[in-house]
Amino acid sequence: MQALLVDLIKLRMPAGSAPMHRRLYECLRGAIQDGVLSVGALLPPSRVLANELGIARNTVLAAYRQLQLEAYVSSRQGMGTRVERLPLGRTARAMAFTSHSEPRKSDALSARGSRIVAMPRASATQWSAFMPGVPDVSRFPARVWTRLRNACWRNHRAEELCYGYGGHPQLREALSRHLAATRSVNCSPEQIVVTDGAHQAIDLITRLLGDVGDIAWMENPGYWGARSILEANGIGQIPVEVDAEGMRCVEPAAGEAPRFLFVTPSHQYPLGSVMPLQRRQELLSLAHRHGSWIIEDDYDGEFRLSGTPVPAMQGLAGGSRVIYVGTFSKTLYPGLRLAYMVVPLELVASFRAAHADLYREGRLMTQATLAQFIAEGHFASHIRAMRTLYAQRREMLATLIERRLGKDWMMHGEDEAGLHLVMRFPVALEDTLVAREALARGIHVKALSTYFAPGTPAQRGLVLGYACVQEADMVTKFESLLKALQAADRK
Ligand SMILES: Cc1ncc(COP(=O)(O)O)c(C=O)c1O
Repeated sequence: MQALLVDLIKLRMPAGSAPMHRRLYECLRGAIQDGVLSVGALLPPSRVLANELGIARNTVLAAYRQLQLEAYVSSRQGMGTRVERLPLGRTARAMAFTSHSEPRKSDALSARGSRIVAMPRASATQWSAFMPGVPDVSRFPARVWTRLRNACWRNHRAEELCYGYGGHPQLREALSRHLAATRSVNCSPEQIVVTDGAHQAIDLITRLLGDVGDIAWMENPGYWGARSILEANGIGQIPVEVDAEGMRCVEPAAGEAPRFLFVTPSHQYPLGSVMPLQRRQELLSLAHRHGSWIIEDDYDGEFRLSGTPVPAMQGLAGGSRVIYVGTFSKTLYPGLRLAYMVVPLELVASFRAAHADLYREGRLMTQATLAQFIAEGHFASHIRAMRTLYAQRREMLATLIERRLGKDWMMHGEDEAGLHLVMRFPVALEDTLVAREALARGIHVKALSTYFAPGTPAQRGLVLGYACVQEADMVTKFESLLKALQAADRK
């Protein structure tokens, strides 16, 4: 039966220049709509079909995923991928994003909602020892901020209390100067779109430049937040291995070019490498050849703790094929919810209009305060002070790991940058179990394996944030972590 199915697929595969995953998806969708593949039919395992068609397994997975997204098939662990019943009178378009084969209870999550909450996600508690990605918010210069905010309110203009449109002009001005000086980003103030966090920027980029069924190459391991956003927007994801230089650059097979490449070149999240110039140029040239967009997530690029910073990819590219995303979540505090993206000039009008229509920007008074904070040099000096502090804390934590556990527990090839480091397990130990044991002792750590795409081989270890741990607490918190490791080891 499976052999017959493979022959059928080969026979019905549409010709043309569309990406292979799309053609395969169309072929299978057509077969289901025509009833050639009937309800309950089992699709060939992705590995088998990939071998038979001579294409990458990820291409088959992307096509299956799209069919699942549109409710044509359902897939269960160990049970394969089966054709679902098509509700009468519903077109494929109307079905997009639903995959309930039975009537949904009125209070149930949508299919998309269920997938989103099933993915690794944000912790409810953030301010806690070893929480990755959390800066030392207790050092935020609240007094200076309050003074500037009060001055802004004394002199405010009526339009600053209305909706915004792409960001406060003064903030965009201050940011373009800051980005040119510190990150080699090449942009005019009008190319900056201010957003409510990097998440909103990634959301808008994928919605405006991607269609449901397009493909993104994602670093593996990579940032779970970006994965959730892409999943919610119907963008198929191909996990691409990360080596010591960041995302590997492999030539896509004909018709399999990605629409997006999501990368963290300044400090790979979470493994920590800094992408060298040559790899940046290889990825840029790939994006140029295939008309792909690079989403450059520069989430903690300001915290290069040693060595010289590598220029942002956006600056190298002369601005084309790259959308640069930065955030104040790590440099100031996450609850500020302010971030920005730099978009090519020709896209500015569309991005601003869509941003205004979808999210209704506001908080221009906060943006005005921030602009002043940057212009008066407080931002640069806060970053300098935090860089020194984080370098000390990183050193403290790395020393504790090496002394108490051994050198082989440290991830090698990691650059000294950012707000976290990765502790690898040189012994067989379940990292999710360690994370649970740590939580029971009031410590928040993230299991390294949860940063890997489902179904791909995952390394075990812990992602440990050091920026938010006070020096005085470091040793006792680390002792608690050791106890969690021992408890997990006994189980
Ligand atoms: C790699 C990475 N990108 C983006 C973000 C999100 O930034 P924002 O708080 O601006 O949405 C985070 C937050 O932890 C992150 O770790």
